[in-house]
Amino acid sequence: MRRRPLFAANWKMNKTPAQASDYVANFWAAAEALASRADIVLCAPFVDLETLRVALEPSSVRVGGQDCFWEPAGAYTGEISAAMLAAMKVTYCIVGHSERRRLFGETDETVAKKTAALVRAGLTPIVCVGETLEEKQQGATAARVRAQIEAGLGAMSDEERASLVIAYEPVWAIGTGLADDPASANETIGIIRAAAGGLDRARVVYGGSMSADNARAFCAQPNIDGGLVGSASLDPRGFIGLIQNGLSGMAKG
Ligand code: 13P
Repeated sequence: MRRRPLFAANWKMNKTPAQASDYVANFWAAAEALASRADIVLCAPFVDLETLRVALEPSSVRVGGQDCFWEPAGAYTGEISAAMLAAMKVTYCIVGHSERRRLFGETDETVAKKTAALVRAGLTPIVCVGETLEEKQQGATAARVRAQIEAGLGAMSDEERASLVIAYEPVWAIGTGLADDPASANETIGIIRAAAGGLDRARVVYGGSMSADNARAFCAQPNIDGGLVGSASLDPRGFIGLIQNGLSGMAKG
């Protein structure tokens, strides 16, 4: 049986609360019409979460964070805990995004701690893995994603891993307009699913220059359950078009 599709926007460091509010006004009704067929999530900057919580309260669209800290509370200036996100009715949170790994020192070990903290707080982690261009050129893609899964999720039970969302995001494909080849992404996601127990049941999405034009081809692949979308999620109508195309790819796939 096909796993339930999931499309998550990653707004990254974009949109003020006023812009988030405008977005929802242009997104809500069309998203609602698709919500019986897919989970739709907006992963927004912390400052937008309250605006989204209120604006999306009557809707099935879910709110996600983009990062969290693993301790529940305490002297950690600038950090936000999984428990705090849960208190804001946030139900998903990205962890281990390659931008956080590259620019902010995130490691497989900190990803593991954050993932566990999110599960403890009742949120669904969206755990990002993916190889750099150098690793791809060295033929090390399979080894890299396997290592990320083992280090990040190795301590969890099969049941916990089955409840996660994994985002396969090749680092070289993010924000470059150079998306992976759908069949190749499907193959790498097969390696991810085989890397630890429970991941055959987990939802695994693709991210990296996913667009309305290529969403159908990615989502027609049997291992791909949707997308984690950066640039192409910033315009509400564009993101709706991407989800529609992705769902039509799944209907054929
Ligand atoms: P782009 O869709 O802009 O390539 O970003 C992908 C991404 O990083 C989603 O987390």
